[in-house]
Amino acid sequence: MIKVALYDAKAYDRPSFEHYGQMHDMKFRFLETKLNEDTVALARDCEAVCVFVNDTVNAEVIEKLYEYGVKIIALRSAGYNNVDVKAAFGKIHVVHVPAYSPYAVAEHAIALLLTSVRRIHKAYNRTREFNFSLNGLTGFDFHGKTVGVIGTGKIGRIFINICRGFGMNVIAYDLFPAPDSGIDYVPLDELLSRSDIISLHCPLTDETRHMINADAVEKMKKGVVIINTSRGGLIDAEALLEGIKARKIGAACLDVYEEEADVFFEDRSGHILNDDLLSRLISMPNVIVTSHQAFLTEEALNNIAETTVNNILSYFKNDGLCDNELCYRCGHIDHCRKERKERCF
Ligand code: NAI
Repeated sequence: MIKVALYDAKAYDRPSFEHYGQMHDMKFRFLETKLNEDTVALARDCEAVCVFVNDTVNAEVIEKLYEYGVKIIALRSAGYNNVDVKAAFGKIHVVHVPAYSPYAVAEHAIALLLTSVRRIHKAYNRTREFNFSLNGLTGFDFHGKTVGVIGTGKIGRIFINICRGFGMNVIAYDLFPAPDSGIDYVPLDELLSRSDIISLHCPLTDETRHMINADAVEKMKKGVVIINTSRGGLIDAEALLEGIKARKIGAACLDVYEEEADVFFEDRSGHILNDDLLSRLISMPNVIVTSHQAFLTEEALNNIAETTVNNILSYFKNDGLCDNELCYRCGHIDHCRKERKERCF
C-alpha cells in the first residue's frame, strides 16, 4: 500500500482520487491544510505527497520531506512555479500533470471574455431584480477584432482556434514559436500595441514575471481587454490597476492573482479582506475575478487524479521510470536521462 499525503484537499478532489487510488492499492490522506514548513510533518509516514498550486514546496520543505523518506512529490497541476525543483534535484523526484484538460482553461478564458465584453454578469444581476434596462450594457463584436495570444502551447492553441471561430484576427508571441503552425507570430511589443484583446497562456518564470507591467500597459491600445488564466505573477497588479484607473485598460478578466495563495480556494465571505489591491480590483466595474477555477471541469478532475496516480505508480512499480517527471535543467545536455525516458537521477 502506497501512502500519499494529499495537501490542500477540497471536497471536489476526493471522489476521483479515492476512485483511482482504490484501483491501485494507494491510500490518500486528505489534508485540508496547505503544505508549508509548519505542516510538512503531516507527511512523516508517507511515501509520496500530492500538492496543488498554492502549496509551498521550497528548499526547507523539500529537505524535511527527504528526511522523512518521501520519495516523490506529485503535483496535481501543470504549473510548478511553487516548487524549488533545483532543491529537489538528487533528493526527491517531482512529477506533474502536463495536460489534464487544456480545453477547460481555454474555454474558461473565453467564458470570462464573453461575460466581460457582453456585460453578462451585470445583466444577470439586473434581471433577477426585474431591472430590464439596457443602459451601460453595450459591448463590442469579437468578429474582426485582433486578439494577441502570449504563449502558444496546448492551452494557447485551443484558445486561438476558438478565437478564429469567432472571426477574430489572431497574432501571437512565444519564446519558442511553433514552426508550421500557421500562427502569425509577432514581437511582443507589436502584439501589445496591435491587440484589442490580450490573453496570457505562458508559464510563470523569472523571465515572464510581471511581463505585463507599467511599460507594457503604456504600449497597449486604449480599451484593451486583458485575460489572465495562466499565473497571477505574469501581471504587476498595481500597474494593471493604474491602467484601469487611467481608462487605458478597458477590462480585465482574471482567474489568477499574484497573491492568491492566502485567499483563493477558500470561503472568505464574512471576513475582512486584507489585500487592498485585490479589493480595489474586484470593486472595479470592468474587472471580473474567478478564483483559479479555469481547470475545474469533471473531465479535468478525472484526468488529474488518473494521471497523478499513474505518475506515482510509475515511480514505485517501474524500476528506473518516472512518468511526467519535471526536467531539472541539470545541464547534462549530452546525456540527459530524460531523453531516454528514464528518471532524472
Ligand atoms: P504549455 O507548456 O503547453 O505552453 C506554454 C507556452 O508558453 C509554450 O509554447 C512556451 O514556449 C511558451 N513560453 C515559455 N516561456 C515563454 C516566454 N518567456 N514568453 C512567451 N512564451 C513563453 O502550457 P499550457 O498547458 O498551455 O499551460 C499554460 C499555462 O496555463 C501554465 O503554465 C499554467 O500556468 C496555466 N494553467 C492555468 C490553469 C488554471 O486553472 N487557471 C490550469 C492549467 C494551466
